[in-house]
Amino acid sequence: MTFSIKNICCIGAGYVGGPTMAVIANKCPHLKIEVVDLNEERIKNWNNSDLSKLPIYEPGLSEIIKNCRNKNLFFSNAIQEKIENADMVFISVNTPTKTKGFGAGKASDLKWVEACARQVAKYSRGHTIVVEKSTLPVRTAEVIKSILLGSNQSSNEENSSKNTFEVLSNPEFLSEGTAIKDLNEPDRVLIGGEKEEAMEALSSIYQNWVPEEKIIKTNIWSSELAKLTSNAFLAQRISSINSISAICEATGADIREVTRAIGSDTRIGSKFLDSGPGFGGSCFKKDILNLVYLSSYFGLEEVANFWESVVELNNWHQHRISKLIVQKLFGTVRGKKIFILGFAFKSNTNDTRESAAINICKDLLEEGAVLYIHDPKVKPDQIASDIGIEKSKKNIKADNKIYTKERSWYYTQDFLEGADGADAIVILTEWEEYRLLDWSKISRKLRKPAWIFDSRSIISKEAVRNLNLNFWRIGDGLN
Ligand code: UDX
Ligand code: ADP
Repeated sequence: MTFSIKNICCIGAGYVGGPTMAVIANKCPHLKIEVVDLNEERIKNWNNSDLSKLPIYEPGLSEIIKNCRNKNLFFSNAIQEKIENADMVFISVNTPTKTKGFGAGKASDLKWVEACARQVAKYSRGHTIVVEKSTLPVRTAEVIKSILLGSNQSSNEENSSKNTFEVLSNPEFLSEGTAIKDLNEPDRVLIGGEKEEAMEALSSIYQNWVPEEKIIKTNIWSSELAKLTSNAFLAQRISSINSISAICEATGADIREVTRAIGSDTRIGSKFLDSGPGFGGSCFKKDILNLVYLSSYFGLEEVANFWESVVELNNWHQHRISKLIVQKLFGTVRGKKIFILGFAFKSNTNDTRESAAINICKDLLEEGAVLYIHDPKVKPDQIASDIGIEKSKKNIKADNKIYTKERSWYYTQDFLEGADGADAIVILTEWEEYRLLDWSKISRKLRKPAWIFDSRSIISKEAVRNLNLNFWRIGDGLN
């Protein structure tokens, strides 16, 4: 017998919950989907009639929201009511790395997940399938299950013992910037669980658009571990190729040629081999650190060290780029203007979590540089919070530029203003519009001798040849 789902509630309207529920609503008009969040501002923006004000930027998302919102997709803060009415509850809340206490710096902070499980235990009615969607350490499903079952036993309410729960793990593999495409055409959907009936209920939702052979069912721990392992493998490829970029620069090899040569081996493959400023995003570092914590917990120190080195290499690589910028600018950037192109952790997103730009900009500010920062989607307030300068009325001028005495940086949307009098341009995000810039026009604005540092390999040597510019590209040994 299949448990039929009609009402879905998703707790958490963020980068995972928002796009995932939008795609399910779009593909399954027969389902009613309620996305709830504690954050009133976020919900207000999801309901904004001006679609450019949606809280997250993701190509293709606003079209789906326009299509489904207030038809079968709703956003609200009515957490209790929507949980009560749901047959299936997705947990899509954030799980940042703990900053204090046991496992600080490595283990994920599960307080939001725990709070959600308690809310579900308190408000749900009848049989509820709880789906963990957030990126979580292995064995989190067990935590959720214990809270749901424990609360049932301890509750005094007359009917509570009739409430039943099934917990599934359904990790998210969407990649920001291509989330809608990834959700529409997933490589696979992974469902971990214990009871076939609940797994089938979730599988039947995906089967509205995903071929059955792409839906992989496993036990709950395999599903959780597979998610961490996928991200760890992808991140490991990036640290591997970034380590080779440093060797290229030292030896005269070219990372693009090395990548092409190794990527054409079908056993290796060509994806996720682009050397850049180091990986960012909310998942890679966190998931690897979870793996490190888990390995240490089970006494597997060698395994823990192996995975930790992937994160260490990433940190080293980011600081390596800041250092070489300083070194090329005659060993000092104090008082020099540097124009930063791109602050998001990758293109096509407004997300800056763990962006390489954060470390690199902080390093340059620390060295006394004056930064002008451009990003097509990231807002100046976000940059201010990331680089540690509190946003206050005092340091925001009417023209939206931000300046403080100790450190200084400006937000700009004007390429010529950013380049005017600058000693260097540093490309940190691979936005398409940066590929199309008129370098001869920009070059005329720079203070000579000037440098272009391209950490994303988005401009060719030809594009800047004969422009009286010094040009550095990641992994280019002939720099
Ligand atoms: C990742 C996983 O890809 C996704 O499956 C998971 O669900 C969440 O984590 P995301 O962090 O959104 O997705 O972006 P991703 O495309 O994986 O990029 C992560 C980082 O690696 C970015 O900073 C990106 O610029 C960098 N990267 C990616 C490289 O430096 N080189 C590459 O070849 C690919
Ligand atoms: P992710 O990338 O995992 O989606 P985000 O931080 O973008 O992470 O989104 C997580 C959302 O979950 C936030 O909007 C946050 O307000 C919300 N949230 C966290 N805890 C709860 C909770 N107990 N109830 C409802 N919403 C929550």
